[in-house]
Amino acid sequence: MKSAAPEPIVDLQNVEKSFGPQRVLCGVDLKVYAGETVAIIGRSGTGKSVTIKHMVGLERPDSGRVLVLGAEPAKLSRRDLAALRLRMGYLFQSSALLNWMTIEQNVELPLLEHRRSMSPGERKERVLEKLRVVEMEEARHKFPEEVSGGMKKRAALARAIVLDPEIILYDEPTTGLDPVISRTIDELVLSTGRRLGSAQVVVTHDMASAYRVADRISMLYEGKIIAEGTPGEIQRCENPVVQQFITGDLHGPILGAARAI
Ligand SMILES: Nc1ncnc2c1ncn2[C@@H]1O[C@H](COP(=O)(O)OP(=O)(O)O)[C@@H](O)[C@H]1O
Ligand SMILES: [Mg+2]
Repeated sequence: MKSAAPEPIVDLQNVEKSFGPQRVLCGVDLKVYAGETVAIIGRSGTGKSVTIKHMVGLERPDSGRVLVLGAEPAKLSRRDLAALRLRMGYLFQSSALLNWMTIEQNVELPLLEHRRSMSPGERKERVLEKLRVVEMEEARHKFPEEVSGGMKKRAALARAIVLDPEIILYDEPTTGLDPVISRTIDELVLSTGRRLGSAQVVVTHDMASAYRVADRISMLYEGKIIAEGTPGEIQRCENPVVQQFITGDLHGPILGAARAI
């Protein structure tokens, strides 16, 4: 007898989404399995952030289905959606730290809200553990405005993982950071996935970063996933749109690439 195929942790089935007259997602299919890291690549404005917002129920599909840990975020009550979100960590494109709290207080916040049974000592230990993971222990008493962009990202990552989520979503974790800092963030994405055994989705337009972190890469173009595979398979993919995107060539089928500079 054949063993049953594993259930995907995140399963987007033919998802369509428009904003007014603008069709953004035109039938997106995407599966993410336990323990793997999937990168969604594509140009700015193609709907990468919109895609992951569907996973946390910040957007609902016009048609198609979004399944996360077996539930449909768009169909849950507020309470059940809140419970589902607690099983997910979301690193926003902007780090979204609260400026009037220290790094340590920012990381502690989800515990104060959602782990009320934890003692102050247990909370402090958990916060320090996560700050150590991202190497931000020393800076824990600083305010977000006092630290660099890379450090803000790391602090936001510590906060995103403080509840040990089963799924972690990263929206452009390395955009705007220099190549060396980007590398350290990529290393953190890799080590976090391994340490927590979480499924991860990383949205990026940085190919170097996608190759480093992803088990599989999916390319979003004109509202659909036009290619998916391991980094090696994507590099060998013959689709001219994929080739143009991954090589950064100005000339090719991607409309407006040469005009965009
Ligand atoms: N809430 C919204 N209302 C209207 N338009 C939106 C909304 N969210 C995203 N869009 C539009 O959808 C398109 C895709 O956006 P986004 O997912 O943010 O792109 P990216 O791939 O750069 O993350 C953009 O043209 C954006 O302006
Ligand atoms: Mg985006």
